[in-house]
Amino acid sequence: VVGLQWGDEGKGKVVDYTSGSFDAVARFNGGSNAGHTIVLGRRTYRFHLIPSGIIKGKKLLVGAGVALDPVILSQELRLLGRQGFRADLMVDGRCTLVSPAEKEMDGFLEGLKEGVALGTTKMGVGPAYAIRALRLSPRPVDLLSGRFDFSRLRRVHRQLTRRAPDLEGWARLSRRLLRGRVGDTSAAVSEINERGGSVLFEGAQGTMLDLQFGTYPFVTSSPSVASYASAGLGVPARDVGDVLGVVKAYTTRVGAGPFPTEFTGPLERKLREEGREYGATTGRPRRIGWLDLVALRYAVRLNGARQLALMKLDILARSKELNVCVAYKDGHGQSSNYYDFIGNVDRVKPVYEKLPSLYGAEFGGRVPTAAARLIELIESETGARVKLLSYGDERSRTLEL
Ligand code: IMP
Ligand code: MG
Repeated sequence: VVGLQWGDEGKGKVVDYTSGSFDAVARFNGGSNAGHTIVLGRRTYRFHLIPSGIIKGKKLLVGAGVALDPVILSQELRLLGRQGFRADLMVDGRCTLVSPAEKEMDGFLEGLKEGVALGTTKMGVGPAYAIRALRLSPRPVDLLSGRFDFSRLRRVHRQLTRRAPDLEGWARLSRRLLRGRVGDTSAAVSEINERGGSVLFEGAQGTMLDLQFGTYPFVTSSPSVASYASAGLGVPARDVGDVLGVVKAYTTRVGAGPFPTEFTGPLERKLREEGREYGATTGRPRRIGWLDLVALRYAVRLNGARQLALMKLDILARSKELNVCVAYKDGHGQSSNYYDFIGNVDRVKPVYEKLPSLYGAEFGGRVPTAAARLIELIESETGARVKLLSYGDERSRTLEL
């Protein structure tokens, strides 16, 4: 399950809804920059690192591709524990760790870029992956062995931030928090597979935030396309099955960066309030725009998504107007191929098709005619099939097509 826009498409609900027939749910990318929201009855659950399969009591795996903040993980486990959820969780011994030093570096780097900050979540995820690429950081296995030498890392931190964080203290705490939870998640997936079971791979963020393929440099710091489920978990590519892409019926984005279909005004505020479009990690108001089929077609192809879950139709139905972007144009012309504008996406103008609005539509049991028109357009433009429709927070407010 992957997001096809800029994150916050509703993957948490989709993972919760579809995980019933799976033995385990595994995260393969990102870190506590992610935020999943699941609503059950009158309760809302929010988490960042723990896979969304927890609500259904699934076995949970956090793969090597994840940037793991042990302190946040244990806070989350404690909070969910108080709400009655027992996590059967394994963290891969090779994942990238996030310490307070990387968090501080995230704030420091954002502060340097006066006026052109990326608007990161400041959870230290980007710096943690960077330090990992410099081969300076310990992995969970290194913390547990107690043999990691922090002197190189400390020296680099001191040069970059002029501070010397207490990494040994953090390492002791993290060792305690992680003990008994660290293992080989790659082998765990393969064992489940060999005995005929199945694992749901849960992506964080969205395709347009992917480090290589998104709206660079306004992207997150790890890949978020479906193929990274393989690399991030250590699972052969042929063992990754069908891809379900999650799409919100309109678009949101938190943080800076190109967003061709963004709009402002009363409807922006209405959709934000009714859709509760505030970042689950930072609380920042999300930017709002129309559905962008140019970006969506690109994302569907990159992920090989044959199936789509279309989310938040009830919120879109609060609008008396419905526009869908079918092409971009700039001074040189018009095209519906995203790559044609790849260096220029911040300057393009969207070309809209006006559709009959969903205003006031009722979803109980069948698909309203106006929604059927929207679905037809999405399917014909992307070649993928809309399999799930979501028209409310709760599990029951879902239609299978
Ligand atoms: P970072 O991932 O904290 O480095 O932030 C980089 C960009 O990705 C910022 O624009 C964030 O708002 C965005 N971002 C990161 N994680 C998420 C997410 O889970 N949902 C939506 N946006 C995200
Ligand atoms: Mg989110």
